[in-house]
Amino acid sequence: MSTGQLLALDLLVAVVGTGAWLGAGATVLAGRTRVAAGLFLTAVVATLARIASVVALATAGWWFVPEKVLLGVPLLGVALLAAWAGLRMLRRGASGAGTALSLLSAGYASAAGLVVTVLFGYPATAAVVLVTFALVGVAVLVTWRVLGHRVPRLATAGVTALGLVGAVLAAVPASSPADMTGMDHHGVSVAMLRGPATPAPGGAVRRFTLTARTGEVRLASGRRVAAWTFNGQLPGPPITVTQGDLVDVRLRNADITVGVTLHWHGYDVPAAEDGAPGVTQRAVSPGHGFRYRFRADRVGTYWYHTHSMSAQGVRMGLYGALVVKPRSSAAGGLDLTVPVHTVDDAVVFGRADRPDRRRVAPGTPVRLRLVNTDSTPHRFTLAGTAYRLVAVDGTDLHGPTPLTRTGLVLAAGGRYDLAFRMPSRAVALLADDDGATGLRLVPPGASAPKPPDTAGWPELDLTRYGTPTRAPLGGHADRDFTLVLDRGLAMVDGRPGYAQTVNGLAHPSIPDQVVREGDLVRLTIVNRSRETHPWHLHGHRVLVLSRDGRTPTGSPLWLDSVDVRPGEVWRVAFRADNPGVWMNHCHNLDHATAGMVLHLRYEGVMSPYHGGHE
Ligand code: C2O
Ligand code: CU
Repeated sequence: MSTGQLLALDLLVAVVGTGAWLGAGATVLAGRTRVAAGLFLTAVVATLARIASVVALATAGWWFVPEKVLLGVPLLGVALLAAWAGLRMLRRGASGAGTALSLLSAGYASAAGLVVTVLFGYPATAAVVLVTFALVGVAVLVTWRVLGHRVPRLATAGVTALGLVGAVLAAVPASSPADMTGMDHHGVSVAMLRGPATPAPGGAVRRFTLTARTGEVRLASGRRVAAWTFNGQLPGPPITVTQGDLVDVRLRNADITVGVTLHWHGYDVPAAEDGAPGVTQRAVSPGHGFRYRFRADRVGTYWYHTHSMSAQGVRMGLYGALVVKPRSSAAGGLDLTVPVHTVDDAVVFGRADRPDRRRVAPGTPVRLRLVNTDSTPHRFTLAGTAYRLVAVDGTDLHGPTPLTRTGLVLAAGGRYDLAFRMPSRAVALLADDDGATGLRLVPPGASAPKPPDTAGWPELDLTRYGTPTRAPLGGHADRDFTLVLDRGLAMVDGRPGYAQTVNGLAHPSIPDQVVREGDLVRLTIVNRSRETHPWHLHGHRVLVLSRDGRTPTGSPLWLDSVDVRPGEVWRVAFRADNPGVWMNHCHNLDHATAGMVLHLRYEGVMSPYHGGHE
């Protein structure tokens, strides 16, 4: 069983146990001893199962269980008492108020643990633990009172004391506010770290103008939908250049009131060109512009998108592909970039206004560059040909082998390059096993039959694909950061909410990760929640060291969008070789809005901007 499934199971048995304890107590009070006995046995089984699930989770990593252990061990004492009372009831039919109280107390304790896991998650602070104990105590004493008994003074005093200590601890801020906004006001301004003004020797200057505006687009289906576009297109115009070129892009904002920037997703541009509003620049407001320049020094498939209120902006259409081709690119062949996006509840492959169908002569070398521009993963299947997955997130894989009947799950923000030679029959690219839509490549004169049902095709494990080469990033890490991803109550941009949290905090309260140029930095990313978090660090690509403790056995895997599924623990590393202040966030952009954003800052670099809307 995966840790993600264990997390779900643990939650389920906690709910069942809570219900059964409370139900047993209530039925005892109602005098329905037979029912009570059944519920009591259910509660005992659920509690034992809970102990097993917590132990199993703990072996996957301590991050998954601290609140369960801290609250659970003392509360287990309550459950034992209840079990004892329940057993007496079973044997002798002794079912007075005392029995009911024990059973109800176990129910309160179990409910409290559940609430803490759901509302606070990780980490379990002393304040939360103490206040929880106090609240359980209050519930027990009140119940006793309601049942017509006197509550001992000492018990009241004890519960009050626990609550007070907890409240005092909760009121003490965990860290000083100066650290919390993460803006160091010393050092060179990130806005100074601009890109070069000239191409590499032999390269060309490639100029583009992207104008963001609101409007409507016509879909291939004929429907018209409201959209935000670059140059009236959805997606925006592809930026395709050759290695060594200087990319020179003028961004204009016609009427996007929430502002616009251009972020070069996966492309490690100089920091001032990164398009992170509130960090590397101010968002461009209507009537204004910004000029981005960087050298296209690395080949591969990337994309660009607005980063101002990005969840809304990208969803509405402010994105496009960025492809850097090698200088020695062999002529001929079909090189197709396919930014995949959900528009009007349907997945579109590339241009929203064109049917996803192409005529391709048999024998043609084909490269499909898939870009997931949505906020959740897509599962791609390619039917009708064998192919190789030749690049991931812009980096070529080493020794990729032919694939057939395989599911390729692509992280939000991630890219896969697929290569094959066009066969004499039609080829279908599907998303999420939906045979009704998708891209079709059809030889002239041939027809495109209904694609096969791909739902059962097994998923490719990227960490086992391709052949290994010597680990390019070895040695001892200079910095080691752990990010525990969860949900919980936290302040998000100054407002309390049910946030997407990192180590229990949300933007902008998550402390900066501070590094020095040249450091080897290691990140441990732990997903305690029940949703996938596509983790994305700006300005760097990261090498996967392990997933759930297992070292990849295939090609070295460099990613910029790391899909951390529920219960997973990823270790990745990178060399701090691009000074700046960089966003480090979840690329489920709704999660970013809900707080899952922090910054990686180089010593000696500061941002003159004061946060803003990611
Ligand atoms: Cu593609 Cu900060 O994101
Ligand atoms: Cu997320």
